[in-house]
Amino acid sequence: MTVYDQHSRHLRDLRISVTDRCNFRCRYCMPAEIFDQDYAFLPKDHMLTAEEISRLARIFVSLGVRKLRITGGEPLLRKDLPEIITRLASLDVEDISLTTNGSLLARNADKLKEAGLHRITVSLDALDDDTFMYMNGGRGRVLPVLEGIDAAAAAGLSVKVNMVVQKGVNDSAVLPMVEYFRNKGHILRMVEYMDVGNSNGWNREHVVSTKELLQQIGERWPLEPVEPNYIGEVATRYRFLDGGGEVGFISSVTQAFCSSCTRARLSADGTLYTCLFASEGHPLRHLLRSGNSDEEMEGSISSIWANRHDRYSLERETGQNSSSTKVEMSHIGG
Ligand code: GTP
Ligand code: 5AD
Ligand code: SF4
Ligand code: SF4
Repeated sequence: MTVYDQHSRHLRDLRISVTDRCNFRCRYCMPAEIFDQDYAFLPKDHMLTAEEISRLARIFVSLGVRKLRITGGEPLLRKDLPEIITRLASLDVEDISLTTNGSLLARNADKLKEAGLHRITVSLDALDDDTFMYMNGGRGRVLPVLEGIDAAAAAGLSVKVNMVVQKGVNDSAVLPMVEYFRNKGHILRMVEYMDVGNSNGWNREHVVSTKELLQQIGERWPLEPVEPNYIGEVATRYRFLDGGGEVGFISSVTQAFCSSCTRARLSADGTLYTCLFASEGHPLRHLLRSGNSDEEMEGSISSIWANRHDRYSLERETGQNSSSTKVEMSHIGG
């Protein structure tokens, strides 16, 4: 079945957050002053079980989803993650990937691969501890993340690296990061800093645009554009002319990609969000837990998608959408 939204976008990807907790406190995502010991994280009985996650995912697959991504918070904090992956791997999908901060990856990479994970994306914002620890709230050093990346590659997972670039914070880390990941066969993607959530104090002046980054990187290592892997790919791709591999740019601020956005997001408590910047979600947990059949669940989800009209990043440009309360990034995993 294919279901279209109000702008003729079908439902193709599901991003599943398995926990809203994280062992890092990145200032652009979970600033420590707000996400402190008094912060109300989700209570355990509100979290979907591995079985509930896989049932919902199966229903989304029957509605046209072909790609699954597991996110958090930090998904490796969830003890039953291998079971979740094993269950998802039995579904008829093209791709199962996971986004992680990499700090706990070295000792888990083999288990994730064995469970059936295809790919992994590791977030890393700098190669020097001073910059990296400033950005993650002093919670983790660089070396364990690099070891995690090596372990994931050794386990046979294909690896991408996400770097959120903030002006005056880690823009000087861009060239060292490119140099390190070039030739390693891992695709580094530079992510424009976004106004997600309500607490990162985002300001357009802090964004380093893809245009600026392309110029800076291209001057050192000439680049040429590469065709997208598929329509609606989030990152635009470039190849090093000297054969050193590829880099990607995620330009959601300067080149919004809402017109091809086929992504639904499910939070760890079973709420469906139709946009990264949504102010409200659609609770599905009570439907799951009150004896609805798969067909009834399909009906509810397809009507939510059919009513979808989100285009936050496009509307940011024209000031049309200035919703004051947005879902937190750590709740829906980016
Ligand atoms: P691939 O399947 O490997 O291309 O992954 P991806 O780029 O879709 O996922 P990832 O979790 O690596 O996200 C990369 C960055 O893009 C993160 O900062 C996400 O928040 C951002 N991103 C992903 N999807 C969207 C989206 O639909 N809208 C916006 N504005 N940003 C997104
Ligand atoms: N802007 C851009 N990317 C962000 N991420 C988290 N917060 C932001 C933000 N404010 C990234 C993480 C991770 C991905 C899921 O989202 O670094 O790689
Ligand atoms: Fe944790 Fe990722 Fe958010 Fe950083 S960006 S606080 S690692 S969920
Ligand atoms: Fe999709 Fe919303 Fe991101 Fe636009 S801002 S690409 S609609 S998630």
